[in-house]
Amino acid sequence: MNKINSMIKFLDLQKINNQYQDEIKASINDVFNSGWYILGDKVKKFESEFADYCGTKHCIGVANGLDALILVLNAWVELGRLNKGDEILVPANTYIATVIAISKVGCIPVLVEPDPNTFLLDTEGLKDYITPKTKAMMPVHLYGQLADMEKLMEFADEHALLVLEDSAQSHGATQNGKKSGNWGHASGFSFYPGKNLGALGDGGAVTTNDDELAEMVRVLGNYGSEKKYHNKVVGMNSRLDEIQAAALSVKLKYLDKDTAYRRKIALYYSENIKNPKLQLPSWDSSAMNHVFHLYVVRSNNRKELQAYLADNLIQTIVHYPIPPHKQDAYKDFASLNLPVTEKIHNEVLSIPVSPVMDWEEVIEVVRVLNEF
Ligand SMILES: Cc1ncc(COP(=O)(O)O)c(C=O)c1O
Repeated sequence: MNKINSMIKFLDLQKINNQYQDEIKASINDVFNSGWYILGDKVKKFESEFADYCGTKHCIGVANGLDALILVLNAWVELGRLNKGDEILVPANTYIATVIAISKVGCIPVLVEPDPNTFLLDTEGLKDYITPKTKAMMPVHLYGQLADMEKLMEFADEHALLVLEDSAQSHGATQNGKKSGNWGHASGFSFYPGKNLGALGDGGAVTTNDDELAEMVRVLGNYGSEKKYHNKVVGMNSRLDEIQAAALSVKLKYLDKDTAYRRKIALYYSENIKNPKLQLPSWDSSAMNHVFHLYVVRSNNRKELQAYLADNLIQTIVHYPIPPHKQDAYKDFASLNLPVTEKIHNEVLSIPVSPVMDWEEVIEVVRVLNEF
């Protein structure tokens, strides 16, 4: 039992959305009353606001984050910039969606060991994975921390690689004033409800500064059609809907405020959790490159740690228990030698961090962890 005698939730989605409920409900009510539910004014408005937020020329709303990644890769294939069978570098410790996107367009995922401290793709070691078939890379800003995009873009230029950022967890993360979603040639975002910018259902977006790519992504996500009932390519149906866009426009206004609170909690954790049995995340608190979608500690005794926290009414989650190459879906990769990735998956534990945690809960998490 913790000292505040109540469950410290990992993420209280109802409380998060309740903060803005009047505005969200009013905006959804507009949709209800408009009688226009797909590809209307709310989506247009949100696309323009999110493009402004990221600093990109284009934002295309899509059905979810996985589709955002698939649509960009698919568009590159349609535009002749990528071919089926090409190799794409991807961190081996990512959430499986990044890898699935590559497989879905007929390319080959090349699983790269991440930096063991930040869990991110870095240029060190990437060279070992380059072959004549390598055509793209997908840095994943895992847990909300931007990979060193300046260096990765230099590396990509040297090797003529396309860069698709997976920004599903990193809305608003910034390096030298430039945001997640505006570094690569394109980026995919997820607005899954639990994300830092979360909808009330599934949602996603592609951002890019490339006019031709933006146009192709939009066409591919709408059955391959630019003009109704005229289909120029074989597309799919993947559109952000008006209700989700209505909610997202409201929540976007408060994203930076919410992120500031996440960072405040993270700073408090990093300064006050002092337990030699735990390894804390490696980040630069003076930089804005981490938006703390997740605060992930490491322990070589994770099972015991998680049970101990549960006994003390602190909810935790493992992101992620099984790496992609150990999933049944990727049996061909099972024998890959990825010790860094496997160690990460065996040790990580995400502790509560959210814009609606009471400060006494934050203090209690630290106290309980220090007594482990
Ligand atoms: C790193 C990463 N990539 C992609 C996705 C896929 O996003 P979605 O769940 O919206 O399809 C997620 C979401 O869980 C993610 O965490």
